[in-house]
Amino acid sequence: MKKHDSTVLVTGGLGYIGSHVTHDLLARGWRVRILDNYYRCDRAVAASLAKLDDVEVIEGDVRYANAVESAMQGVEAVVHLAAVCINKSVSDPTESLDVNLLGTQNVFDSAARNSVHRIVYSSSASVYGNPTSLPMRETDKPAPITPYCTAKLAGEHLLSFYAERSKLSWLALRFFNVYGPGQPTDAYYTSVVLTFLRRLAAGDAPIIDGRGEQSMDFVHVTDVARSVGMALDSTATGEVLNVGTGTQTTVAQLADQLIKAVGADVQPVFRPREVLVTQREASIERIRELLGWEPTIGLEEGLASVVHHLKTTGELG
Ligand SMILES: NC(=O)c1ccc[n+]([C@@H]2O[C@H](COP(=O)([O-])OP(=O)(O)OC[C@H]3O[C@@H](n4cnc5c(N)ncnc54)[C@H](O)[C@@H]3O)[C@@H](O)[C@H]2O)c1
Repeated sequence: MKKHDSTVLVTGGLGYIGSHVTHDLLARGWRVRILDNYYRCDRAVAASLAKLDDVEVIEGDVRYANAVESAMQGVEAVVHLAAVCINKSVSDPTESLDVNLLGTQNVFDSAARNSVHRIVYSSSASVYGNPTSLPMRETDKPAPITPYCTAKLAGEHLLSFYAERSKLSWLALRFFNVYGPGQPTDAYYTSVVLTFLRRLAAGDAPIIDGRGEQSMDFVHVTDVARSVGMALDSTATGEVLNVGTGTQTTVAQLADQLIKAVGADVQPVFRPREVLVTQREASIERIRELLGWEPTIGLEEGLASVVHHLKTTGELG
């Protein structure tokens, strides 16, 4: 195993993706310092991370430049994940921009001034808006439709700004629909997974609004964490990369897969409704080319891992 003996600051490292990223980075030989304000993390997961060798947890908020500055001391690299999610951005645009734009600015500004060499930034597939063609490519024109997406896109641009004025090299990763054990329950698609699973656990059929044609590109959190580790250890710089699988799954297909995963003997029920059909499918040519990253966990295996996790934690019936 490579031993860097170097410290990477992971903002939002106690969160869903952050906890998986922390394990990936430790396995690559990094020491991990987490900066997180405990806003949305699972306390039990946070406590178990804090106990690990080579992990230091600092409670602090990216909105406060002095908190960021003190966490940045002695750091070689940064993985910037701290953010408030897309749903909150619609109900509270000011908070969203405060954390996701100004907080991001604090992190990049402090990294540049402290001669940090490397930043990996979590952007989002939502910067594309509703795509006019599939698969979605990094060269497509972004069309952000919420303050969250606007802030994510601005973060990508801010990286270029700071890289020109400092020693920073960087990659921005546009995550698609991340799922897997420990997933939060309030994102649209993860809540669909859980709603369907709860109905199945009660012996009921999943209910699908409209024809279930809305599609997502589901990428397993373990694969996402590995993309972050590979991006951090790579020397490639100045690029935005999609992190998805290149496969779309419709809501109707998802219901079928979940029925299979729990072994239920039911058929989904379709409820006639006007539904806005959006579609997502990543082009992953660029990340393959640049990092040699490939998704390794297919949806069937991935959903089985979610079902197993929910049964173990007692969250599923
Ligand atoms: N989950 C997805 O499908 C997905 C998709 C695209 C992009 N992303 C991005 O990936 C990153 C991680 O997402 P996640 O799903 O793990 O979210 P999460 O909410 O589980 O984790 C975010 C973490 O950031 C922390 N945080 C929030 N506000 C903070 C602040 N002001 N200061 C310090 N810490 C703060 C939270 O406590 C939490 O631990 C985010 O930037 C998110 O926008 C996620």
